[in-house]
Amino acid sequence: MRALITGVSGQDGYHMAQLLLSSGYEVLGLTSNLAKASLVFAAPSFATICLSEFDYRKPDEIGRALSEFEPDLIFNFAALASGRGMFDSAQEMVELNGVFVGNLLEAIRLSPRNDHISFCQASSSEMFGNVEICPQAEDTPFNPKSPYGAAKLLAHNLVKIYRETYGIRCCSAVLFNHESIRRPENFVTRKIATAAAKIKLGLVGQFSLGNLGAKRDWGYAPEYVQAMHLMALAPQSCDYIVASGTLKSVQYLCEVAFGHVGLDYRKYLKVESQNLRPIESKNLCGDANKIARDLGWRANRSIDAVMVEMVEFELGSAQVQNVEPAKS
Ligand code: GDD
Repeated sequence: MRALITGVSGQDGYHMAQLLLSSGYEVLGLTSNLAKASLVFAAPSFATICLSEFDYRKPDEIGRALSEFEPDLIFNFAALASGRGMFDSAQEMVELNGVFVGNLLEAIRLSPRNDHISFCQASSSEMFGNVEICPQAEDTPFNPKSPYGAAKLLAHNLVKIYRETYGIRCCSAVLFNHESIRRPENFVTRKIATAAAKIKLGLVGQFSLGNLGAKRDWGYAPEYVQAMHLMALAPQSCDYIVASGTLKSVQYLCEVAFGHVGLDYRKYLKVESQNLRPIESKNLCGDANKIARDLGWRANRSIDAVMVEMVEFELGSAQVQNVEPAKS
């Protein structure tokens, strides 16, 4: 089997590549930054991944990738994300997170192999915005509050339209927050884990966050890509909520991470307005019963365990970075 992954050097692209390569797939990873992707996949275990640079604004390039590589499965993680950046550059956001998915679907529709392709889109809980209904299920109405959420909703709707109108095998995984050691530095879990490790090692004296009271439904990224893999293989294409069903606050994550290294986060934290969002999506907690019923998927690893893993990883990295280079 052959799988194509867009946005391959991001957290989810990385975990999906790892899952598929270990399951015997041939994998083509598309990236807008080949140098970065080559570094991400430099480990010997990734020797067999094929990486290719790709301009998401050129629809022809997608068709060419499909006809040259002939994938059976396609996973789209190419997106502008996130944090305060959910409110940056609405135009770029709509182009990459929305219009690009339309181009991808159109390329699949026009492919002579379209019967053999199954496509899974990484949708987002941000599409719900500030909802009254909690937890959110597949039939909860969307009400996005950021350009990011609005652009993801455009893509989500296009997937549904191509499935229902053209019979394309395509689905959207409505992913709630999911974390791992591959999280980039601008996400709150990574910020907290890095701060806990560096403060413990005496490398920095304080850290800054925004809204401590913000609550999210947090899970473990490697499990969430497993859910998408199951969805892409399912005989019936269908959208699913992928979530843990548990709400925890940013403050709670600080307690877990700093507690793990025996520190009180309150002594080191500065709340800074630059970390606040213009508007915060609220009550984002997913009801993942449908995917549990249909495909047997459930979130297993708690966010407590994920935070501990992230802190341990950051302790290791910070120590390696601070070992003095040997004198020649
Ligand atoms: N990034 C960040 N930085 N977030 C902070 C901070 C801070 O200093 N302080 C508090 N927060 C709060 C945010 O206000 C938000 O409520 C929560 O922490 C999580 O923020 P992020 O880790 O940046 O993730 P996100 O929720 O914006 O986005 C992630 O989840 C979405 C699904 O709901 C990303 O994975 C998105 O791509 C994904 O769609």
